[in-house]
Amino acid sequence: MIVTVASFKGGQAKTTTAVHLTALLNQHSPALLVDGDPNRSATSWNRRRGFPFKVVDEKQAVRFAKDFEHVVIDTQARPTEEDLKALAEGCDLLIVPLTPDALSLDTLFLFTDALTKLGADRFKILLTIVPPKPSRDGDEVLNTLREAGLPFFQTVIRRYKVFQKAALDGVLVKDVADLHAADAWADYKAIAGEVLR
Ligand SMILES: Nc1ncnc2c1ncn2[C@@H]1O[C@H](COP(=O)(O)OP(=O)(O)OP(=O)(O)O)[C@@H](O)[C@H]1O
Ligand SMILES: [Mg+2]
Repeated sequence: MIVTVASFKGGQAKTTTAVHLTALLNQHSPALLVDGDPNRSATSWNRRRGFPFKVVDEKQAVRFAKDFEHVVIDTQARPTEEDLKALAEGCDLLIVPLTPDALSLDTLFLFTDALTKLGADRFKILLTIVPPKPSRDGDEVLNTLREAGLPFFQTVIRRYKVFQKAALDGVLVKDVADLHAADAWADYKAIAGEVLR
């Protein structure tokens, strides 16, 4: 399965999602992470300590992909329409991370409109960095997505500081000594379950 993670807006947790999804898919069958962002965020994250899976850039991807059951591709924010066409056509599932705020939601609609125009229908929105109760931001955005008839993951990724620590330490969230490490990992585990279903 080829899964691409993309969004128009930056900072939606694309890299965090690509890294953790690869780690979880890799527990089932060999998974490869392709760092398609020229900023090389996933590559630097991996370089700090080393993930238990392989990370390559998009130029190496062609050579390595055939040895893996799953390929996850992290991409840069603001793809051009042309990039987007290639991205959407080149994968089985396009994951579109979205943080629950008004500006991100506006940008998401531009993105889904562009996808619809391209006839790309294999995408699913993933709500990320969702603040805890009493905030209703997550629920409100999910209602908006539901009303708009857009496809989204049933699980949302909650906001935990441990995600930032993991990136800083160069490890996966489950390997950080933090009260919320297991909860944070469990959120992405549920997403991997939905992807494989
Ligand atoms: N669930 C979460 N809770 C708290 N912080 C998070 C969560 N997910 C990601 N972050 C943090 O939010 C920031 C943006 O995440 P990330 O780098 O994954 O986004 P991105 O979409 O790849 O950004 P860019 O567009 O710059 O590539 C990072 O500091 C990351 O550690
Ligand atoms: Mg990124």
